[in-house]
Amino acid sequence: MATTHTHIGNYEFKSCFMNAAGVYCYDRSELEKVINSEAGTFVTKTATLNKREGNPLPRYYDTELGSINSMGLPNLGIDYYLEYLIELQETMPERSFFLSLVGMSPEETHILLKKVQESSFKGPIELNLSCPNLPGKPQIAYDFETTEILLSEIFEYFKKPLGAKLPPYFDIVHFDQAAKIFNKFPLFFVNCVNSIGNGLIIKDEYTVIKPKNGFGGIGGEYIKPTALANVHAFYQRLNSSIRIIGTGGVLNGKDAFEHILCGASMVQVGTALQKEGPEIFKRLNEELESIMNEKGYKTIEDFRGKLKMI
Ligand code: DHB
Repeated sequence: MATTHTHIGNYEFKSCFMNAAGVYCYDRSELEKVINSEAGTFVTKTATLNKREGNPLPRYYDTELGSINSMGLPNLGIDYYLEYLIELQETMPERSFFLSLVGMSPEETHILLKKVQESSFKGPIELNLSCPNLPGKPQIAYDFETTEILLSEIFEYFKKPLGAKLPPYFDIVHFDQAAKIFNKFPLFFVNCVNSIGNGLIIKDEYTVIKPKNGFGGIGGEYIKPTALANVHAFYQRLNSSIRIIGTGGVLNGKDAFEHILCGASMVQVGTALQKEGPEIFKRLNEELESIMNEKGYKTIEDFRGKLKMI
């Protein structure tokens, strides 16, 4: 019988599925629902130093093919998430959970990471280099120079397992340039991809969300081809020590199978989790296991990265 069990470095997960940051991860009550589902782990809402209310409502909208959001980093502040994660280390020592964070400036990012470095938190950390929804602030990882400087400053003092959440790239030269930078650092993983930034969805002549004149990050079915291309492009280019988390357009077991074929070791679910709730993880595990059983694959490692070229 097939299993969706996976690992990243020494961290073991009973399933390769988890939430994508931003969905079911704002507070303890939402995170507990993911813990108690068939997901392998969770990642918190991206934490900043201080609590933030985020952008004006409405700021999230579901469509037939996906979603648009401009949340603006509403979160309860780093201390809230760190305290909860450290508590879980005591109560569920056999499991590991991810902390997502980014500062509102490089200085704030360093303050956050130094806090994490000095804490007793032992889990993996996802540095969000790709929030598209902060008015006046570009997605960090689209600026290669800033990204390289930030990572080189971080790895001078940060010794815990740190990965980066990346925006989608759309050009082969950008894949080459980005991978060359990420390969200079001891990154634990990269997560491809965040939402496709600054799309526009219209209903009855109106924008559907309030912030930024209706512009927001696009997720769901719209983005799977872009997500798969990014997972595979980085799988082909990155040092094998940098694991890949695949995110984008995962609605069913086949979508996850494709992310893993492209090289993903874990698979995150955003829009579909928002629409369906944490019960989705049971269905996703069953659907992926059934595809694996049909093909005679026992573990994810049997087909991870083995995309065939015609
Ligand atoms: C938000 C959206 C993102 O895609 C992200 O990476 C971080 C934050 C947000 O608007 O809250």
